[in-house]
Formats: sequence, C-alpha cells, structure tokens
Amino acid sequence: MIEIAPSILAADLADLAGALAIAEAGGADLVHVDVMDGHFVPNLTIGPPVVAALARRTRLPLDVHLMVEAPERLLDAYLAAGAARLTVHQETAVHLDRLLAAIRAGGARAGVAINPATPVETLVDVLHACDFVLLMSVNPGFAGQAFLPHVLDKARRLATLVAERRVPVTLALDGGVSAANAAAIARTGVTTLIAGSSVYGAPDPAAAIGALRRAAEEKQR
Ligand code: DX5
Ligand code: ZN
Repeated sequence: MIEIAPSILAADLADLAGALAIAEAGGADLVHVDVMDGHFVPNLTIGPPVVAALARRTRLPLDVHLMVEAPERLLDAYLAAGAARLTVHQETAVHLDRLLAAIRAGGARAGVAINPATPVETLVDVLHACDFVLLMSVNPGFAGQAFLPHVLDKARRLATLVAERRVPVTLALDGGVSAANAAAIARTGVTTLIAGSSVYGAPDPAAAIGALRRAAEEKQR
C-alpha cells in the first residue's frame, strides 16, 4: 500500500494550519515534519512546541524527521509532542539500537534515516529494531533540491535485505519526489513517498497529492 506524506517544510511556514488542511483535503496518509538544528544540517526549522501545536490541529499522524545532532537529548520531547513516527539519522546516532528501542517504548513507530552517501548495508543489524527506513534522495537541509537517482539502486538493495531477513520494515523516500519519478520510486519497493515542493509548490496542492498517489500506484498496473 502506498502512503503519501506531504512535507510541510515546503509550505507557507506562516500558515502551518493551512498546510495541514491541504494534506487532509488531498487525502494524505501522514504529515512529514522536518526538524533541523543548524548543526547536523545547515538549516534551522521547528522544535517540540510547534510539533505539539501541529498535532493538536490534525487527525493525520505526524512523521517527524529529526535532522539533529545528539538526537537522544530530544526524543522524549518529540514523543510527548505527539510524533506518531519518529526518525533519527544513522549518521548522528552513536547508540542507534538504544534510540530505536526508546522510540518504540515511547509508543511511536521507529525509523532510521540515511543520507545519500551512507550505504544501506550499514543498517543490517538494526533492521530488527526499526519499523521503517527513510532513504534520503537529496542531501538533507532544504526542500526543493534535485532528486539523486543513485538512491533508486540503494532502495532496491534495501528492499532485498528486508525481504531476505523477513522483517516487517517498510521503506520511505524523501527528497525531490514528484509525479514524474513516483512510479520509478515505487517500483523499487518504497511504499512511503515524502514530497515537499511537488505538493506545496503546485498550483493545486491537494490535487498534487492525488497525482503522486496515482503515479506511485501506476507501477502495479
Ligand atoms: C530535506 C527534507 C525533506 C524536504 C522534501 O532535508 O528532509 O523532507 O522537505 O522537500 P522536497 O520534496 O522539495 O525535496
Ligand atoms: Zn524530511
């Protein structure tokens, strides 16, 4: 089953309630929230109080993507804020297994994100501990960057690893996703498509969510 997660980083940041309403109107499955600390990535976005406010304004599950150093300091705050899915980067986690266990213990789905340059093979020993892997198809930090096509090969390799190990891990992909590449992405085994600019930059953002879903589901036809 395909899931579409609009990334509100690409929306009008002065109208986050409007961004949530668009996600709901378009039939999104999740709302993707990018947390950046100005250290792990060269951009600074929002923190726990804003995530808590978002959670109060939508029925959609919040998919919180932590692009921060020392994520262990922040997990409890984002769990309390209402993250339904919480993702930490492999590159910033010293004790990844412990972090993923803490996320699950806090009642959220646990995800690991990996940068375009990090091999998927580095995740073989945490696949049992996570619910999903988020493959970055841009270098994290900004919306509106060009899709890096080598990540399709990584997604295929990861899908094979997950199938071989028979673990219930799903694949998400984030960065430069649009209706033009959604079918190719879905064909690799990715089921959660995260999209910022192609949704909120579209003339009709709610319709763009539907267009993404149709394009991703096309691979099944
Ligand atoms: C990038 C973020 C993405 C980004 C996606 O660091 O993690 O979620 O907002 O935006 P687009 O779809 O415009 O690449
Ligand atoms: Zn993201």
